Amino acid sequence: MQKTVIAALGVLIVSGLGVLAQSGDPITQRQNLMKNNQEQVRTLTGMARGQAPFNAATAQAAFQRLEQNAQAIPPLFPPGSTQGKTAALPVIWERKADFDAHAAKLGQDAKTVQTAITDQASLQAAIQRVGQNCGGCHETYRRKDT
Ligand code: HEC
Repeated sequence: MQKTVIAALGVLIVSGLGVLAQSGDPITQRQNLMKNNQEQVRTLTGMARGQAPFNAATAQAAFQRLEQNAQAIPPLFPPGSTQGKTAALPVIWERKADFDAHAAKLGQDAKTVQTAITDQASLQAAIQRVGQNCGGCHETYRRKDT
């Protein structure tokens, strides 16, 4: 009986460590962050196309999230985080300052546009300005076959 309890505890502890290791993994974290970026862009484009009703506060919140996400990008690419399932190209660490500058530019643009959204047209312009930063960074720093 006691053995079973101890074994069960052991399983709990090991699986607990597994979860910790996963959430602490910068590759998983940055991929989740990027997925969240995608979600924000989807919300914004849906509104710009009239698929969802225009709402300035919702749009601002999405750009604010993109701004915050951008600030979180540089530390999620620590040196050596190239093992495993990742589309990050090694050139990131050869030009880390430039890579970080791309993240900063995304954050700056996402911040700047927040006050300029009054209707669908201005939202469209804001998406274009901010969205360029996504492709601009992927172009150089993300593997294309994924
Ligand atoms: C500073 C560079 C940079 C910027 C800016 C950037 N990305 Fe990324 N993105 C990357 C890199 C590098 C990867 C690959 C990460 C990996 O696999 O480890 C990636 C991966 C992704 C992925 C795939 C995530 C997955 O499921 O593995 C999506 C989706 C994505 N980015 C969306 C966006 C969007 C949308 C924006 C703009 C709002 C954006 N990204 C801005 C560098 C950037």
